[in-house]
Amino acid sequence: MHVAIALLRLGYRVGTIDLDARQGTMTRYMRNRFRFIERTRVHTPMPNHMAIMRSSAETMSQQAEDEHSFLLMALDEMGPITDFIVVDTPGADTNLNRLAHGYADTLLTPMNDSFVDLDLLADIDPDSHAILGPSVYTRMVLEQRLMKEKRTGRGIDWLVMRNRLMHLDARNKREISEILDKASGEFGFKTAPGFGERVIFKELFLKGLTLMDIKDDPDVPLTLSQLTARQEVRQLIAAIGPERIKGYRRPPSEKRN
Ligand SMILES: Nc1ncnc2c1ncn2[C@@H]1O[C@H](COP(=O)(O)OP(=O)(O)OP(=O)(O)O)[C@@H](O)[C@H]1O
Ligand SMILES: [Mg+2]
Repeated sequence: MHVAIALLRLGYRVGTIDLDARQGTMTRYMRNRFRFIERTRVHTPMPNHMAIMRSSAETMSQQAEDEHSFLLMALDEMGPITDFIVVDTPGADTNLNRLAHGYADTLLTPMNDSFVDLDLLADIDPDSHAILGPSVYTRMVLEQRLMKEKRTGRGIDWLVMRNRLMHLDARNKREISEILDKASGEFGFKTAPGFGERVIFKELFLKGLTLMDIKDDPDVPLTLSQLTARQEVRQLIAAIGPERIKGYRRPPSEKRN
């Protein structure tokens, strides 16, 4: 949500796709945003949003086929009217999830600073912290990257960002950093600046707002913590590099007429 809205605020046309439509968190986040706009009449920018439902066809192969065509239809429809399409994927290894990875130019994987989350990227030796091999998820990403490279000549830029960073656990933070550095070389991802653990992220959902919109909401006074958090979002966007991707010198919002 933060990536989508930050891109919108930079002046890009943004589409969003909720692939985790059964959980539907992103879709409800958007609904809350829409309600906020209706209620306050504030001009808060809204992306073009679509939710992709799981197919209810009878056979697995028909489901797979349906879902592939739902995704392609959404991408086809949004492609010509947007600069970026942000797809929120489910945690589960579904067919649809795989397909979506195979169309991504940039893949952003957030992970909490814990060995539990790290385990979703790589198998780690408990004593030496050596990387024993890719996890199921990493294998899937590498497979999709290879297939995309063959199909389009362009792979997937993979960014792993750390989330919910805490001030207190310096040792854990360092250990995770060291392992991530090794994994990054081995599996070909970059590490992006992460987000701190902040209550504001939990609170913004009900209004459908992000840190990039706080000035639109008179009920939320801007605090130093939020300014810092917003800076973290900007740093993440800089790591994604929308201008680099589009070949622009500046974001559209800064272009002079
Ligand atoms: N940096 C943060 N600080 C505080 N809370 C956070 C932070 N990041 C995420 N959360 C909270 O953690 C919960 C899960 O976040 P989110 O929905 O982004 O994760 P997810 O990986 O997409 O989860 P799921 O797999 O269920 O879709 C939410 O309650 C969210 O507000
Ligand atoms: Mg999610």
